Amino acid sequence: MLDLTGVHKTYGTGAARVPVLRDVSLAIRAGEVCAITGSSGSGKSTLLNLLGLLDRPDAGRVLFDGEDLGATSVDRRARLRNRCIGFVFQSFHLLPRLSALDNVALPFLYRGLSPRSCRDRAMAALERVGLADRAHHRPDAMSGGQRQRVAVARAIVGKPRLLLADEPTGNLDSESARRIIDLFAALNADTGVTIVVVTHDPAIAARCPRRILMRDGRVAAPEDAASRTPSA
Ligand SMILES: Nc1ncnc2c1ncn2[C@@H]1O[C@H](COP(=O)(O)OP(=O)(O)OP(=O)(O)O)[C@@H](O)[C@H]1O
Ligand SMILES: [Mg+2]
Repeated sequence: MLDLTGVHKTYGTGAARVPVLRDVSLAIRAGEVCAITGSSGSGKSTLLNLLGLLDRPDAGRVLFDGEDLGATSVDRRARLRNRCIGFVFQSFHLLPRLSALDNVALPFLYRGLSPRSCRDRAMAALERVGLADRAHHRPDAMSGGQRQRVAVARAIVGKPRLLLADEPTGNLDSESARRIIDLFAALNADTGVTIVVVTHDPAIAARCPRRILMRDGRVAAPEDAASRTPSA
């Protein structure tokens, strides 16, 4: 699904240049569940942003379903992102004045669907994460774990083929964290969605069949033996 070859990314200019990704080559296969681990500053979020087509490498190649994204327009990448990729972040990024239902429906409204059909799909996504009964609550009336499940519902409402999460359990207690990773596993089993999770939590990483360790901007080799067994 995603193929990175010889990817480099540097921030800053002149003497302040900081190489963040150095010669990263990585393939993510459709249907995989991968954890990206590594110490703070090792380049995990930078890598996830490249996988999510939010950013472009300075050098190297990124293929999405075989399509070389080096050559594509900003519009084409935005379209692929909107249609194919869902994002979940550590701090939820929900709009405080909107109900859970409206937060989840929002991405669909942008696609020009009727409000009725947006709400129906949003409700189905909330049911999927076990929060149908909280649909009309605002995020501030919910626990952290519930807010993150609303964010997961928003990420999956468009039926993405790739779900990317950056420290999705970083603000959660261990029980809520377990629920999120259970949900990811169930979504992968039910729909085959490919999932990549950046995490510091060894318990979360241990639940992922494949683990990618970042060290100082590189993929540390060798990967886990388990990661060489195709999971799809
Ligand atoms: N927009 C930016 N401008 C300049 N430097 C940046 C920028 N984003 C990240 N960096 C630097 O790139 C390096 C890697 O950052 P990145 O956010 O990818 O690390 P990370 O592995 O996700 O860390 P953490 O676990 O703390 O989230 C860090 O040294 C960081 O300071
Ligand atoms: Mg990060």
